[in-house]
Amino acid sequence: MQVIIVDDKVAGGKEAYKVFAKAIKDGAKVLGLATGGTPETTYQELVASELDFSKLISVNLDEYVGLGPDDPQSYNYYMNEHLFSKKPFAKTYLPNGLADDDAVEIARYDQVLADHPVDLQLLGIGENGHIGFNEPGSPIDAKTRKVALTESTIKANARYFEKEEDVPRYAYSMGIGSIMQAKQILLEAFGSKKAQALKALVEGPIDPNVPATILQKHPNVIVIADKEAATLLTK
Ligand code: PGA
Repeated sequence: MQVIIVDDKVAGGKEAYKVFAKAIKDGAKVLGLATGGTPETTYQELVASELDFSKLISVNLDEYVGLGPDDPQSYNYYMNEHLFSKKPFAKTYLPNGLADDDAVEIARYDQVLADHPVDLQLLGIGENGHIGFNEPGSPIDAKTRKVALTESTIKANARYFEKEEDVPRYAYSMGIGSIMQAKQILLEAFGSKKAQALKALVEGPIDPNVPATILQKHPNVIVIADKEAATLLTK
C-alpha cells in the first residue's frame, strides 16, 4: 500500500488526477467511481483536464435504494453533475435505486461487473471504516448486495438531506469481494473525521469490523490522505 500525504483535499485531487492519467495511459478501460464529499476535488481535476473518457466505461460503487436518477440526492444525479455531463463516457453504469426486484437488480449489477472488470477503483472511506456501503461486519467476499446503512453512516450523510429521516435506510453496493477484484484501488481520505479509520486501514490489523482494512490484502492500493486525516499515523 502506497500512502501519499498532501496538505488538503485540493492537493489530493491533483494527486488523484495523476493516478487516473497514468492508469488511462497504461490502458485502463473501466473506471470504478465513487460519490460523496471526498471525490469532489478529484472530479474537478478530471473535468478540467485534457483526459478523454469517451472510449471508457464507468461502473459506480453504490446507489441509495428508493432514489431515481432525477432525485438530486441520488448518486446517479451526483455523477451526472460532477463528471458525466462534463466528460462523457462511452457507457456509465450505476445500480438502479428504483429497481422493483432486489435479486434481479443485484444479478444485473454483478453481470455488469463481470462484463467490465474494473481497472482503477476510486474509494472514499467512512468514519466507521466502510468502503462503498459495506458497513462494519460485512462479508469480505460478497459481490453486489443490498445493505442497511448504519446509524453512523445515516448521520454522516444527513448533511445532504433536509432532515435525517430523509436519508434512505438501504443501498445497493458493490460488495467487498467485488471491490477487491479491481486491478488497482485509489482510496482518498480527507479531514480529521477520517483519521481513526485511516489509521486502522494503514496500520491496524485486518478487521472485518473496519471493512477498509481488507484492502491490506490487495496488491495495488494507493491511499491519498490530507494532513488532518493522517494525524494519527505513526509510521
Ligand atoms: P464522504 O463519504 O466522501 O462523503 O465523506 C465517504 C464514504 O462514506 O465512503
